Amino acid sequence: MRSVATISENSAFDVARLRADFPILAERVYDKPLVFLDSAASAQKPQCVIDAVSHCYSREYANIHRGVYYLSERATQAYEDARVKVQRFINAASEREIIFTKSTTEAINLVAASYGGATLKEGDEIILSHLEHHANIVPWQLLRQRIGIEIKVVPIDERGNFLLEEFEKLLSPRTRLVAVSHTSNALGTITPAAEIVRLAHAQGTPVLLDGAQSVVHGPIDVQALDVDFFAFSGHKLYGPSGIGVLYGKADLLAAMPPYQGGGDMIKRVTFEKTEFADIPGRFEAGTPHIAGAYGFAAAIDYVSAIGMEAINAHERELLDYATARLQEINSLRFIGTADDKAGIVSFELDGVHAHDIGTILDREGIAVRVGHHCAQPLMDRFGITGTVRASFGLYNDKADIDALVRALGAVREIFG
Ligand code: ALA
Repeated sequence: MRSVATISENSAFDVARLRADFPILAERVYDKPLVFLDSAASAQKPQCVIDAVSHCYSREYANIHRGVYYLSERATQAYEDARVKVQRFINAASEREIIFTKSTTEAINLVAASYGGATLKEGDEIILSHLEHHANIVPWQLLRQRIGIEIKVVPIDERGNFLLEEFEKLLSPRTRLVAVSHTSNALGTITPAAEIVRLAHAQGTPVLLDGAQSVVHGPIDVQALDVDFFAFSGHKLYGPSGIGVLYGKADLLAAMPPYQGGGDMIKRVTFEKTEFADIPGRFEAGTPHIAGAYGFAAAIDYVSAIGMEAINAHERELLDYATARLQEINSLRFIGTADDKAGIVSFELDGVHAHDIGTILDREGIAVRVGHHCAQPLMDRFGITGTVRASFGLYNDKADIDALVRALGAVREIFG
């Protein structure tokens, strides 16, 4: 793929310069400067990603893997180059281990339906944690309805820490799969993934990590983690929505049946039977998000040029700053103060509904997410219906947090 990313030569972290790469950050909301603190839901896009998508549609668009003509070959090459970029980005051993899906959600559903459906049987156990997003709960409940597996849940403590010793107690010879969040979308808790994998593998149990939030906050090395499946999305990583990734170890993927049937996932079809394609094609039925792969590749180039370590350090600084400054607000209670956290703060204000806070902040041009964050069991754990969540991306700065604190001060004055 021709490089359409425009990344500065200077890789030093300069948030003012980086902000200029994101056209939407210059927008005004209700005539106020936009303060975007909802990157955990979906991140904004740098110009190079927008240009890459536009480049695909305006210069190189055709369906992939099917045409013998120039445009189709260009687009096919770009799509497969994007797969290699993803492979290198998470240090997978082979590009065959990278399946493009539409999202993290689809990646987890794929594992539940294909691996789970083919490998698990009635009475087998899987382990989730109390931190899970609905995307890593509901697919397993659907599988439970289908075949009668049991779902065990690792508890968390009052601060939102994943309790490793409780996990160890739940592991049993009947545990067939562990599927846990790598970083909680609602609290920011970073789970002890390497330990989880080590303990599960000690008894031959594979592990799926929901990496939707972790992949955006720091470097990921699936081989170092030795994780079996790793799921994430393009849109939280500054790329387009509608494209995600399932990483799976080649031997596991190669033994799994197809998830969906259709074009591009076969070798030979007759009315009697179908011979399926090898991985990764076997799991990519139908026309995929071709332009999404262009944008995804540009997003990976973009964050790689900045450096995931540098992004991590920047967001940790913002997290520390926000945690300190939010304590100035009277009767603000943090939900989630785990020992190891990504750039996400969740909180409630005594006597004020989260949705009222969200609406008042919105009028100040501040975008946060309020509510249950698609993690209702986690909210139940804390006896609340929802929180206000501010989540940080590489483009946020301390001025964004100052604006949030100022606006929350105003909320406090209105509600007393
Ligand atoms: N999973 C996304 C969030 O946490 C949508 O907001």
